[in-house]
Amino acid sequence: MTNLLIGFSNKAFLNESFIIVLKFLCNLVRSSIGEIPEELGNLQKLKELDIGPNFLIGSIPSTISNISSLEYISIENCNVSGPIPSDMCARSSLLQILILHANQLVGELPERIGECSALENVELSYNNITGTIPRSVGNLTKLQMFYVPYNNLIGTIPKEIGNLHNLEELYLGVNNLRGSIPKEIFNISTLRGISVSVNHLAGYLPSNFGYGLPNLQELHFEHNNLSGEIPHSISNSSKLTFIDFKGNQFSGLLPNSLGELSFLEDLFLSGNNFVAESSELKFITSLTNCRYLRKLSLADNIFNSIIPASIGNLSISLSHFYFYNCGLHGSIPDEVGNLTNLLLLSLYSNQLTGSIPKTLGNLQNLQGLGIFENRISGSIPDSLCGLEKLDTLLLSQNQITGAIPDCIGNLTALRSIYIGNNKLNSGIPASLWQLNDLLVLNLSSNSLTGSLPLDIGNLKVATILELSMNRFLGIIPPSIGDLKNLIGLSLAHNRFERSIPESISKMLALVALDLSHNNLSSNIPKSLEALQYLTYFDVSFNNLSGEIPSRGPFKNFGRQFFMSNGGLCGDPRFGVPQCPITKVHKSKRRKVIFRVLYALSGVLALAFFLVLAYLFIRYRRKQVVKEKKDISYGTTWLRVSYYDLQQATEGFNENHLLGTGGFSSVYKGTLKNGEDVAVKVFNLQLEGAFKSFDIECEVLRTLRHRNLCKVISTCSNEQFKALILEYMPNGSLEKGLYSDDYSLDFMQRINIMIDVADALEYLHHGYSIPIAHCDLKPSNVLLDQDMVSHLSDFGIAKLLRNGESFAQTTTFATLGYIAPVFTRTKPSSEAFTGDLNLRRWVNDAMADGITTVMDPKLLNPGEDNFKEKLECLSSIMEVALNCSTEIPSERISMKDVVAHLNKIRIKLLEYFS
Ligand SMILES: *[C@@H]1O[C@H](CO)[C@@H](O)[C@H](O)[C@H]1NC(C)=O
Ligand SMILES: *[C@@H]1O[C@H](CO)[C@@H](O)[C@H](O)[C@H]1NC(C)=O
Ligand SMILES: *[C@@H]1O[C@H](CO)[C@@H](O)[C@H](O)[C@H]1NC(C)=O
Ligand SMILES: *[C@@H]1O[C@H](CO)[C@@H](O)[C@H](O)[C@H]1NC(C)=O
Ligand SMILES: *[C@@H]1O[C@H](CO)[C@@H](O)[C@H](O)[C@H]1NC(C)=O
Ligand SMILES: *[C@@H]1O[C@H](CO)[C@@H](O)[C@H](O)[C@H]1NC(C)=O
Repeated sequence: MTNLLIGFSNKAFLNESFIIVLKFLCNLVRSSIGEIPEELGNLQKLKELDIGPNFLIGSIPSTISNISSLEYISIENCNVSGPIPSDMCARSSLLQILILHANQLVGELPERIGECSALENVELSYNNITGTIPRSVGNLTKLQMFYVPYNNLIGTIPKEIGNLHNLEELYLGVNNLRGSIPKEIFNISTLRGISVSVNHLAGYLPSNFGYGLPNLQELHFEHNNLSGEIPHSISNSSKLTFIDFKGNQFSGLLPNSLGELSFLEDLFLSGNNFVAESSELKFITSLTNCRYLRKLSLADNIFNSIIPASIGNLSISLSHFYFYNCGLHGSIPDEVGNLTNLLLLSLYSNQLTGSIPKTLGNLQNLQGLGIFENRISGSIPDSLCGLEKLDTLLLSQNQITGAIPDCIGNLTALRSIYIGNNKLNSGIPASLWQLNDLLVLNLSSNSLTGSLPLDIGNLKVATILELSMNRFLGIIPPSIGDLKNLIGLSLAHNRFERSIPESISKMLALVALDLSHNNLSSNIPKSLEALQYLTYFDVSFNNLSGEIPSRGPFKNFGRQFFMSNGGLCGDPRFGVPQCPITKVHKSKRRKVIFRVLYALSGVLALAFFLVLAYLFIRYRRKQVVKEKKDISYGTTWLRVSYYDLQQATEGFNENHLLGTGGFSSVYKGTLKNGEDVAVKVFNLQLEGAFKSFDIECEVLRTLRHRNLCKVISTCSNEQFKALILEYMPNGSLEKGLYSDDYSLDFMQRINIMIDVADALEYLHHGYSIPIAHCDLKPSNVLLDQDMVSHLSDFGIAKLLRNGESFAQTTTFATLGYIAPVFTRTKPSSEAFTGDLNLRRWVNDAMADGITTVMDPKLLNPGEDNFKEKLECLSSIMEVALNCSTEIPSERISMKDVVAHLNKIRIKLLEYFS
């Protein structure tokens, strides 16, 4: 076999008809966008064509049909457009594999695909293929895998698919298919996975559903209009591990036979019309036989039952349990405390009564607890303070009484607390103000009392602070101004008094500020005019006086927000009298100054004035510097609209495209203020995965490190989600290593390595919750104008793919590999087959000299200190090997990595000077 790696720019080779295997893997850089040449059709002996991921333009040449020898076509992640050639198998039918996943293909699935009688594997997912699924697919009797999700297919599923007696995977999700699922499909005994999720399919499942599907493992039927009961026979598909029926119209009783599926791991039944046979919900008891169950969702059904105590006998593996909005009544059984591997317990929007079970404190892995909108009474048990990993606590809208536990400060992982609309009647325990990572604190509508301490300033990353409708009193502490990330602050309906602190004007991110219904006096600080994002401001029903500021955001505030105060004055549009002209004060002050002047005379006075003038000038300078800082801080909170982004990127023009990934595209843009930014636009079809987008963005915004790519802002609404990131003029390390004229030298590479290690150290150890990047690769390391590297995409890829807001601590295991900074050989290189991978390759080379595995550009035997430099390279490789041992627990910590690399760098500096 001949194995070629050539850029498309050199087309001459395409006349070489002896080529049998042609691969273009990841070797076209963005700057040299290519096209698949027509001449490809000349390769009369070509058996395998493997392209991608790459950035290509144009379509798949129709000449491909001339190659009668083709057995394998893979053009994946390549951006190719146009239709699928209609007569691919006109001249021969040897084609076994056809993979065109993740391109921009349009047009219909050709009817003549039925001629490709040898086809075993068809993958056309993530394109824009329209039309119906041709009946002729039923002729492809060798087909094992038919994978076409994420297209625009319409019409019904042809029953001819039932003829495919070798079919193992049938994936038709996220299209526009209608009608019912042909019964014939439930007779394909070889099927291991079926997905028809997110279509418009209707109809019932046949009562013999599971009889013909003995090998079925995965069933994805979610988000359709399927109705009727779940047939008992489903348990005859005894190998099922994954069932998703959520978001349909299924009704009736749930079959107890589901409990016979002993391999079941994930069962999603939410969003249907299932009912319970009695107030017991015995169904749960039957599920206790599923010993591998991890995720169970029964939410959004009409059970109107109690939660049976047998819940405590569910699989110990259970990590996610969704049981919200089901009409549940009675109390939460103590047995729930047996489920010690639960990460998420969601019981909100029911009619649950009784108190919060103390046993919840046993759920040592719990990250999210949602019990809001119930009728829970009693107090919050101290045992909850043992939930070390708890991230989100949602208890609002219940009848909880008593105090917030003093030990709440032990919950150091907490990011969000919602306990509004309850009957709490204590003060806020001092320990709560030590939760430095808190993002949201909502205690609204309780009977909480006491004053706010200066320590409130500790909540530096908080974005929402809602203390309205309580009985808080005393002053608003000036340290509140330290909450610089705060977006919403409400202290309304309390008994706060004295003045509005000037320091509020430092909370530059503030969008809503509600101080109404208190007993605040004195004036509204004019400095609040600096709050440029403030759109809601309410100080009505206080005792304020003096002039209402009129500039900045005050231009837009209505009169109702100032009403019922003692002596406010100013612009008539605020519904207040005009302010008297205040010359009196000035002349008074002048009089005092004259008196002082008079008292001091001669040299003494002169000296005094000189000192004063000096101090004044110094003070002014400081002010100016400070103001500048505040302003630059302000730009990090830039609010950017969709329209701004559209202008910045000239309508998301392709010329601005910096790159595309599986889930997003990144454009270069120039904002109105002249700042260059990178705009990462998320693929809308996956919108469902972005539920936690807003919260996650806030989390990411709180990460600050020199070597992390900064999120400048976000733009998010239902139709559009984007992150606005710092623009990096020197592109990615990927480009630095693999573009034709790459030229990263030794020192630059070690600096990059140290930068990346620094960033990882911060993510792993420097932040209160360890964060695993999970997608560390050269294309995610971006270089600024000074060649300082910035890690990008941290966490995002992982978080968004999972769509789980608790993911950051659960996915703390990334498969280690040696980033090819010094080897330049990629981990995906086809040299690595079988057991050989990049790590082993380097490891094997360590014994007899690493020169064979190094990027030749780094090796210049004639240069000074060559031997010493080689030794440094060896040390670097050793660190890399220690970072990527197979067993994660044996890997060295990033702290040690940084220390080792810095030592090596110091040595290198010697040899290079
Ligand atoms: C996909 O095709 C549909 C229908 O032809 C069209 O409206 C839509 O704009 C296309 N989308 C893309 C991303 O090309
Ligand atoms: C399914 O297979 C059974 C037994 O092989 C057969 O009796 C039945 O007619 C088939 N059903 C359909 C809808 O093809
Ligand atoms: C379905 O499963 C039940 C219980 O395991 C078994 O008795 C029955 O024979 C199976 N039916 C078929 C058609 O396989
Ligand atoms: C849970 O399982 C245990 C042991 O099998 C059993 O004794 C107990 O009755 C079960 N509890 C419930 C409520 O079903
Ligand atoms: C705070 O909680 C109250 C009561 O549960 C709710 O009405 C309000 O919308 C919440 N505020 C914010 C900003 O989430
Ligand atoms: C409001 O505050 C003033 C002092 O600023 C105090 O005299 C008055 O009693 C307070 N009113 C109420 C209702 O607490």
